[in-house]
Amino acid sequence: MTDGIALDAGATDNIDTGNPDTVNPDNGTTDPDTGNNTNNTNTGSSDTGTTDNGSDTSTNLPAITVPDVLPPLPSPPLTPAPNTSNEPVPVTGPVSTVSEFFLVRDPYGKLPDDTSADLTLEDFNLGPLPAVVTTPSDVNPTINTPPYFINLENPTVFAGDVLEVLFDPEDDNGTRPGMFPNYLRDGWSLVDNLNNTRTFRWQPLQPDVGIHEFKITAVDEAAPLYRTEQTIRIQVLLPADESAIPNLPPVVDEIRPHTTKFNDPVVMTILVNDPNGTVPTLEIVNPPPGATITPHHAEPNVSILRFVPQTTGVLTIDAIARDSVDTTLTGTQTFTIDVRDASFFQREGTALRDIATARNFRLGYASLLDFYYRPDGAIYAQTAAREFNFVTTENSLKWSYINPLPGIYRFAAADNLVSFARLKGMEIHGHTLVWHVQLPDWLKTSAPETREGHMREFIDRIMTRYADDIPIWDVVNEVFENDGTYRESLWFEAMGLNYIDIAFKQARLSAPNARLIYNDNDVSWAGPKANAMFDMLQGMQDRNTPIDGVGFQMHIFTDFDKFDEVEANFQRAADLDLDVYITELDVSKISGGTDEQQAVVYERVLDICLKQPRCKGLQTWGFTDMYSWRSEFEPLLLDEKYQVKPAYTAFQRRLLEN
Ligand code: XIL
Repeated sequence: MTDGIALDAGATDNIDTGNPDTVNPDNGTTDPDTGNNTNNTNTGSSDTGTTDNGSDTSTNLPAITVPDVLPPLPSPPLTPAPNTSNEPVPVTGPVSTVSEFFLVRDPYGKLPDDTSADLTLEDFNLGPLPAVVTTPSDVNPTINTPPYFINLENPTVFAGDVLEVLFDPEDDNGTRPGMFPNYLRDGWSLVDNLNNTRTFRWQPLQPDVGIHEFKITAVDEAAPLYRTEQTIRIQVLLPADESAIPNLPPVVDEIRPHTTKFNDPVVMTILVNDPNGTVPTLEIVNPPPGATITPHHAEPNVSILRFVPQTTGVLTIDAIARDSVDTTLTGTQTFTIDVRDASFFQREGTALRDIATARNFRLGYASLLDFYYRPDGAIYAQTAAREFNFVTTENSLKWSYINPLPGIYRFAAADNLVSFARLKGMEIHGHTLVWHVQLPDWLKTSAPETREGHMREFIDRIMTRYADDIPIWDVVNEVFENDGTYRESLWFEAMGLNYIDIAFKQARLSAPNARLIYNDNDVSWAGPKANAMFDMLQGMQDRNTPIDGVGFQMHIFTDFDKFDEVEANFQRAADLDLDVYITELDVSKISGGTDEQQAVVYERVLDICLKQPRCKGLQTWGFTDMYSWRSEFEPLLLDEKYQVKPAYTAFQRRLLEN
């Protein structure tokens, strides 16, 4: 199942199949490549990581040596610039929930996977990789030797056979190490043999032919942080007689229940899958009246069901996938759509947007990627346009999404958001140009000395494309660790601290009229991280590096109470003559947290912003709990069915006050 809780805009590192609800699920809270809470170590400097400009606590930070005027962009370019072959093309067929403007899609079929990380036979033939031992400082390895696995080899298996690998961790100190797999993909299991060994089991099938990697960590019994990671590689071969491989039944991917409005089009992007790699057929047993089924333009496994519900009530749709070789093999799935009358979505009082606009305040949300391909895309779009005059791009401008391979650009999602925002008179905030996550593999494996060029090229290409549409940009995102040290990102690795100034200078060159923002999390309250950020901002200003504002992310919780510190930090930004934006507000309900507590936190944050003349806007990170990177904590203003929560009413009330 791919459409579980925590499904959200996601779709960040996957190829866009135009099937956001089923093909590209993304659980932003567990994906290691999501942004916050990464485990990077600090810069190695032992101080609080302040810059050596405008701070007296600095010591070991690298010097900032950026010329006043940047040299020309790399020539010839490091990667092919966008050209007509990247240009989105009009979408044909009734496949979306949008009717007010033309949708475009990217010109590509399925893109080749990025091969930078692909394993080869050569990698397999190397045998098990050397063990990686992590030794905590309080362990003396000459007294307590690290745990290790015995008798490991790189196994070969034929597709259809069951592979079993015994993991037997030993420790020469006589203790019995524990173990855990670093990651188990679908179909992999690690069976506990109850004798301190575990057996890795996997029955690979035709699509698995190739080389795979499995990592497992042994844990010292006496010191749980004393660990040994071991990697084995698995070669899967196709047997001479393919009929020996079991034919497994196909599956229809689940689609979560959605709530939609009577008379609005519903779109269901249905993915069928055969573990053996053939393309199953799809049958909709009870298609709603007038439904169309359109094949996806590029994905043979995807069909798009579209219809306009003729009645209110819960609509049930049954889907059957049949194996293409043996049609008696089937998989089924039932989808439900709760079709509600327009009155269900009416809200009391004035829409937030109208009150915000009347007081000249930007009230925004982060837009779900490809919202017009979701079953409830129509009510999503109507609600967004009704409640907000400002919108930011949750994922559509992130590097791994928009430029997944050198010379390949996927502009359609951002272009479509621009069309929508224009039509609805909403201002757009561009998020985000320079960040350490959601980067394409090709960039992660690029030589450090090329990264300045890549970064500048990327900034230039994206900002110039949207120069007329996007007046505000998060240029650099999240450079600090929580202790205020600079994060050892791939940018830091390549350019030291220079990358921040270079990025902002490039941004000013590429879009001279745009407002340029530095954006970070956990900097709206007091602490080493905020201090480090203000030192950095001051340093940038001392060096005449262009910067216009600070984005305070504010992914907070219902027990949040540091409102005075928020007020003070906004003032610190204002004192630096910088605009303040609340860029990513959401208030997750901690265990026991209530909607009422959530409303109080929302209202108080809004209040601080409204009282601070330099606070130019507030964006919530989504608006319905249906689509949030933290869905399970119901952090937004409207519930899953687009119904008002106390936080919405609190916003309404506060916006009406002075
Ligand atoms: C999150 C998105 O909401 C998720 O869909 C995605 O999987 C990961 O990124 N800080 C940021 C945002 O600046 O870009 C992040 O957005 C949340 C944390």
